[in-house]
Amino acid sequence: MQNIIISVIKNEDEVEILRDKSSFNYKYNQTTIDLLKKNFKLKDSLYLLATENNDFVAFCSLDREWWEDNYFFIREIMVSENFQRIGIAKQLIEKCIQHAKDKGADGIVTETAFDNYPMQQLCENNNFKKWDNPEWKDGITYKLEF
Ligand SMILES: CC(C)(COP(=O)(O)OP(=O)(O)OC[C@H]1O[C@@H](n2cnc3c(N)ncnc32)[C@H](O)[C@@H]1OP(=O)(O)O)[C@@H](O)C(=O)NCCC(=O)NCCS
Repeated sequence: MQNIIISVIKNEDEVEILRDKSSFNYKYNQTTIDLLKKNFKLKDSLYLLATENNDFVAFCSLDREWWEDNYFFIREIMVSENFQRIGIAKQLIEKCIQHAKDKGADGIVTETAFDNYPMQQLCENNNFKKWDNPEWKDGITYKLEF
């Protein structure tokens, strides 16, 4: 853990590091990469990259493209399989929460699949609550109100 550095992505092209990266059944495809590049340009977006000796460890993206006013959305979070369960995702989530608070948001949301237990556990450990999202029923929406 000592050698892992979390940095803020400064340029949309850095998102290319995700191309063909996968973890469990999750893989970054062209559509996702294009959307991430588009949302990178939105006001107040925060993209975080974790590396160890310049090698990819984890990625997380937060943006304001959510249909409720003044909420941030954790759109992506992925930790490379060799680095899971050592608290990296928790650190990334904490930075997202702090960023959203600093920007005066009312809260932060994220969505995950019904069978994505690691992500559900991660949300619950960080005080997100299951939320009955009228716009999306294909998985679980988690919300943290500030
Ligand atoms: C979800 C994910 C980001 C968690 O990353 P992580 O760095 O391993 O998470 P943390 O180490 O901060 O773990 C926090 C908690 O999540 C839970 N968790 C993490 N991995 C888990 C697993 N494989 N099984 C069950 N719970 C798990 C645990 O409760 C863990 O705390 P603990 O180890 O003290 O019990 C990671 O599993 C991942 O990249 N998954 C694939 C991509 C993905 O599904 N992203 C979410 C899309 S919505």
